[in-house]
Amino acid sequence: MKICCIGAGYVGGPTMAMIAKQCPDIPVHVVDLNQERIDAWNSDHLPIYEPGLDEVVKEARGRNLTFSTRVDDAIQEADIIFISVNTPTKTFGIGAGRAANLEFIEKCARQIAKNAKGHKIVVEKSTLPVRTAEAVKRILSSECSGATFDVLSNPEFLAEGTAIDDLLNPDRVLIGGESEDAIETLCSVYARWISREQILTTNLWSSELSKLTANAFLAQRVSSINAMSALCEETGADIDEVARAIGSDSRIGPKFLKASVGFGGSCFQKDILNLVYLCEHFGLREVANYWEQVVVMNDYQKRRFSEDIVKTMFNTVSDKKIGIWGFAFKKDTNDTRESAAIYICRDLLRERARLCIHDPRVPEKQIRQELLLACTDMSGHLTEKDRWLVENNISIANDCYEAADDAHAIAVLTEWDQFKALDFEKVHASMHRPSFLFDGRNLLDQAAMDAIGFEMHSIGKSSNRKNRPSS
Ligand code: UDX
Ligand code: UDX
Repeated sequence: MKICCIGAGYVGGPTMAMIAKQCPDIPVHVVDLNQERIDAWNSDHLPIYEPGLDEVVKEARGRNLTFSTRVDDAIQEADIIFISVNTPTKTFGIGAGRAANLEFIEKCARQIAKNAKGHKIVVEKSTLPVRTAEAVKRILSSECSGATFDVLSNPEFLAEGTAIDDLLNPDRVLIGGESEDAIETLCSVYARWISREQILTTNLWSSELSKLTANAFLAQRVSSINAMSALCEETGADIDEVARAIGSDSRIGPKFLKASVGFGGSCFQKDILNLVYLCEHFGLREVANYWEQVVVMNDYQKRRFSEDIVKTMFNTVSDKKIGIWGFAFKKDTNDTRESAAIYICRDLLRERARLCIHDPRVPEKQIRQELLLACTDMSGHLTEKDRWLVENNISIANDCYEAADDAHAIAVLTEWDQFKALDFEKVHASMHRPSFLFDGRNLLDQAAMDAIGFEMHSIGKSSNRKNRPSS
């Protein structure tokens, strides 16, 4: 048996590396159009940062794990072809801002159809709208090359930052399909290290929809706790205490109840908007409106945080230095897609603040690119003023101390563990007074920060309100 995967991204790369590690006798070929990315996969500096990934790749690369741009060859040789290309939200035409852009999926399916001989199992790894498999099947059969296909849906549930552990010990593996033989073939790969009871099989459409549903439910929990955080700030309740109290109800459970500056990442917003579009398409307006509120609440939480900063700092941050700690959408990743930090920084920039940003894993070029993109409207227009602000009012620091030096405020936007272990006396001594500390992740110990002299504002704690001057 031979496996190939089209798309060497955050999902395709680690997933294939794990399959190759666990199945040393199965050749796994990961292909991508992006030569630079492939070169990085073949080097000592992998294109993505993920704890434990280096070791897994090193073990399998050169043995049964190959990275290349030879897409046609990989398709011809493989028995199982995973499609793991990106499916971003459409930015143009029908469904712009909501529907998934399936251009890359369609191109892959056509390329498979053109190159395949014999029988192939095509596996959808990318998250897709329900019934995409129908389109993939039609495209595959349209080339009349004599090749035959089975299409399976096998969505990935790994979370970035914990991808290796999630792949090694998943709660479940989901495989949807019509052909028993094809399902069994794919099951036999995962069964090398995952027990059969944890491999769920369903029909194609249930599998496609389960992935969207899982992400919608997870994002909904974050928006629910963030909604309550706003109420906590007004009432004197403490969101961490509320989360602990409700999380110990076994029906609710303790996970995914951490109030934050808002969820980010490549999946949650994209998948919910996609779900909303799908519901609208089927005339289910109430269902669409219901799920859309999860994104509306997330936008509110991000906006609320940057507005609180401005209000608290005497209603102006113009020409004030603000140190930004963390830019990735969560800790232990270098991924910044849809990171809340992007939108907080954009809003503060437009208030004319001078931002000094430090993230342990995100390079300067990526930070500037994200901010320019966030300032660009749907029609691709970027104002001269915004460009000027990104070029002149953003600087990048090598560490948190440099970001905080001579600053009026610090905003913690990613929960990196190393931020907890800093010398906060030193940080405080280098800042202006009052020394504002806005903790968008409830990462730091409020009492300790108060004792040092910071004016600390956390998410869902009533001190935010008490100390805010009236506008
Ligand atoms: C992908 C999907 O975007 C997402 O819907 C799904 O939930 C998980 O898989 P991810 O791996 O994070 O997410 O995407 P990304 O890191 O952007 O990687 C996709 C790769 O596919 C890129 O390296 C891109 O160069 C490659 N690609 C894209 C191709 O090789 N061919 C194409 O036609 C398009
Ligand atoms: C998510 C899903 O968890 C995963 O199953 C799916 O395959 C892809 O999408 P990911 O986006 O990588 O994974 O990370 P996740 O841990 O889910 O975090 C998403 C966002 O929610 C992050 O910005 C995180 O900081 C935020 N979050 C998460 C909270 O704000 N509070 C929480 O309690 C949990």
